[in-house]
Amino acid sequence: MEKIILDCDPGHDDAIAILLAAASPNIDLLGITTVAGNHTIENVTRNALSVCTVYGITVPVARGAEGPLLIEQVIAEEIHGTTGLDGPYLPPASFELDPRHAVDFIIETVMANEPKTVSLVPVGPYTNIALAARKEPRIIDRVKQVVAMGGSYTRGNITPAAEFNIYADPEAAHIVFSAGWDVTMIGLDLTQHQALATPELQDRVKAVGGDISQFILDTWEFVHTTHSGLLDIPYPAIHDACCVAAIIDPSILTVEKADVRVELEGRWTKGQTVANFESASGMRHFGGTASEQTDYRTNVAISLDWNKFADLIVESTQTLTDARA
Ligand code: BDR
Ligand code: CA
Repeated sequence: MEKIILDCDPGHDDAIAILLAAASPNIDLLGITTVAGNHTIENVTRNALSVCTVYGITVPVARGAEGPLLIEQVIAEEIHGTTGLDGPYLPPASFELDPRHAVDFIIETVMANEPKTVSLVPVGPYTNIALAARKEPRIIDRVKQVVAMGGSYTRGNITPAAEFNIYADPEAAHIVFSAGWDVTMIGLDLTQHQALATPELQDRVKAVGGDISQFILDTWEFVHTTHSGLLDIPYPAIHDACCVAAIIDPSILTVEKADVRVELEGRWTKGQTVANFESASGMRHFGGTASEQTDYRTNVAISLDWNKFADLIVESTQTLTDARA
């Protein structure tokens, strides 16, 4: 079983990440931590509790950072609506919030488990993860890996260059990419261009029937309307679930090593993840020509095994639906 902490800002696609984490027999979901991102910390935390209630699970949910480290807060209301998860019915929470701050929850959980057994899965802005790494740097060697939704090596979604999770807290992303732990960047190249809720997938989820199936279909119906007006994609993107899927079954992705830097100052490019895949020493790498100055540590997700990913979503819906019956 892979132990994970899911750090999220639900958020429609965050809810599908929670679905996979809750249902998979390969995942031990140690807790969910929330971070301001798609909406305010109040809303995304309430949404996280409601989503767990829909799925019939009780796990620690710890509320985290109210905003980014340095910049003004940006939210994604134009995609996720005024609650951060508009569309589906959100029931009142069936259990209480964990009393700890998310940053302390992350540190205590990582330190209480055996080294290299806990993976962090940030799928909102990386504020909590950066704060935890700064507050208790021993977690950097202790976590197994960080599997993060964010960035892109091609194009952005909130600006031409930047993806939302990075743009919303670029300094936190810089800390996470440069910390020295094992990081996998699952960016828009994969999540927005290969992981879409196609009509076929929606039909398969519909065939499961029941409240959980309806909840998922309602999330997709809502983001389909908002995506359609803002992005050139035909169906809703299931960004965040790709990270959990990659932990459940690493063969679902192909990755390439790259040196990823976060643009903190660009006039047009702030929040861009600049990925250097080139190792030839003649290239002018970041600030120099010597290959020693590069750091090909980040696993950058390139392609998705769509059939396996779609199967996981359908199976997870079925598993939780059967468990509630
Ligand atoms: C990311 O931004 C959010 O809107 C989604 O939940 C996802 O984590 C995609 O850019
Ligand atoms: Ca998210």
